Amino acid sequence: MKSFMHFLALAAAVSCVVGQIIDYPDLRYLKAYTSTDPHATPAHEFLDSCPDLGVLGLDNVIKRVCLTGHWLLYSSISYAGNGTRYRGINTCYNLSTSTSISSLRYAGSPYGIDDVYFNLYNTSDYGGNEFKGNTNTETVVALDMEVSSLIISGQSPWTFFTGLKFTGQSACVHPIYSYSNNGISMHYYYELSITNLGLPDNSIRSVARGCLSNNVYRNELQQFQQRPQEDIEKTIRRED
Ligand SMILES: *[C@@H]1O[C@H](CO)[C@@H](O)[C@H](O)[C@H]1NC(C)=O
Ligand SMILES: *[C@@H]1O[C@H](CO)[C@@H](O)[C@H](O)[C@H]1NC(C)=O
Ligand SMILES: *[C@@H]1O[C@H](CO)[C@@H](O)[C@H](O)[C@H]1NC(C)=O
Repeated sequence: MKSFMHFLALAAAVSCVVGQIIDYPDLRYLKAYTSTDPHATPAHEFLDSCPDLGVLGLDNVIKRVCLTGHWLLYSSISYAGNGTRYRGINTCYNLSTSTSISSLRYAGSPYGIDDVYFNLYNTSDYGGNEFKGNTNTETVVALDMEVSSLIISGQSPWTFFTGLKFTGQSACVHPIYSYSNNGISMHYYYELSITNLGLPDNSIRSVARGCLSNNVYRNELQQFQQRPQEDIEKTIRRED
């Protein structure tokens, strides 16, 4: 029993502690600081999600983050409760003084930050367990009828279905937001509550790449649907 417990503790630590940051310009990372001083040395550099910052002695002490990619910060361990979304390309944020961070995870592909990808979350605001992927998925398995929020990444729409194997009600979602810095871009869309897509909460059962629904979700930019496609694309590529 004792050695089993030891193994579990080790497994938890491994997902937080990573090696050197390799110098790919679009590789995701998050540097965590315990002070807002821009000249401070990072307390830790994350390449991967971390369900319990206490393992690194960093529970409730992160004051500033510099990052590339999409990262979600939580005030509880194991991504419980609401996550706060930060995105950027070598972008720094001072956290509000009332914020305390106990876990963090990234959204999007484990490879390039603009690779096509989806992340689904059990509760609203990116909370709880996730189901993720980059391909057509006939069932979202553990999150079957449990999805409440999502993030998509990369330059492709995705369609979410309330039936297994791409059946039932559906909504097509485009990555209408983009952010660029130094010639690197990321495209994405996020939804804190899937009810905003016209689908019931806890209804998603399958996911397909591409726009395979008549229910095309373009957020507040719906009014531009009558315009030529090229014009729409120009209009909706805005930062958020
Ligand atoms: C963060 O706070 C420091 C002061 O502690 C300030 O110098 C810096 O400009 C702030 N950075 C951002 C991104 O707001
Ligand atoms: C999470 O955010 C939602 C709004 O998106 C809010 O209704 C809820 O109270 C928040 N939950 C917590 C635990 O802060
Ligand atoms: C999703 O959240 C609900 C409510 O908190 C919980 O009962 C359920 O076990 C969770 N499911 C998964 C797959 O995390």
